[in-house]
This record gives sequence, structure tokens and C-alpha cells, in this order.
Amino acid sequence: MDYSFLAQKASEAKSVSFPPYSNFHVGASILTEDGKIYSGGNIETSSYSLTICAERTAVFKAYSEGERKFKAVAIASDSPGFCTPCGACRQVLLDLCGDIDIVMVNHKHELKIMKLSQLLPFPFGNEELK
Ligand code: THU
Repeated sequence: MDYSFLAQKASEAKSVSFPPYSNFHVGASILTEDGKIYSGGNIETSSYSLTICAERTAVFKAYSEGERKFKAVAIASDSPGFCTPCGACRQVLLDLCGDIDIVMVNHKHELKIMKLSQLLPFPFGNEELK
């Protein structure tokens, strides 16, 4: 699968991020199974722990529009390395999207693609709640 367009959208979404404390701009774009894309940025507050990461902004936007089936999420930052989703986002993405592709985009616009199950092995999930 060619994720270059999704990666481009995630890079553009850095411009709507709001990180006044860390100054670390992240953009994320999530792709639905039927080809729609929802994007968002990280949003920080003065009570730091209430910050929301870009990935969760994007997936919550999609969910609140009724979307339920996803293929991939792209995450872009200005870092030379690849910005991987934090632990909290891995759990949220697995619960809400299943084992989707995670497309990481660095400052040179290079891509690294992994399955979410590689990033979150042995997960807690709703199976445990039955
Ligand atoms: N951040 C994201 O938005 N996504 C990630 O995958 C990692 C971290 C944000 C949270 C915070 O606003 C800033 O980056 C520094 O941690």
C-alpha cells in the first residue's frame, strides 16, 4: 500500500498542533477502510498531563463522525528519528481501530511502517473484560 498521500496529510496537520510547552509539533492522519482521512495535531494544556497526542485527536475526530473501520494512521513530526505512538495511544488505537498499519514520518519525509501489534505485543483488551 502506498501511504505517501496519508503521510503528506499528517505532515500538513502539524500546522494545527498546539504545543506551547514542549514546542514538539506532531500531526496525525487516520485512513478509514473506505478511503476517508481525518487529521489532527497534539494539543497541550498548562496542566501537562491533560495533553492529547495527535493520534488520539485524529482517531477521536473520526469516531465522533461515526467511522469505525480503519486501515492506517500516519504520524509526522519534525524529529530526525521516527515519532512512535506513546503507550497510551497504542492502547487507544488498538481498542478503537484494531491491528492497523502505523506509518511514521520523519523530518525528511521518510516513512517507516509497522503493524500496531509489533508496537504493542501482549496487549490488554476487551477479551479480558468478558
Ligand atoms: N506526542 C504526540 O502527539 N504523539 C506521539 O506519538 C508522541 C508525543 C506529543 C505529546 C506532547 O504534546 C508532545 O508530543 C511531547 O511529548
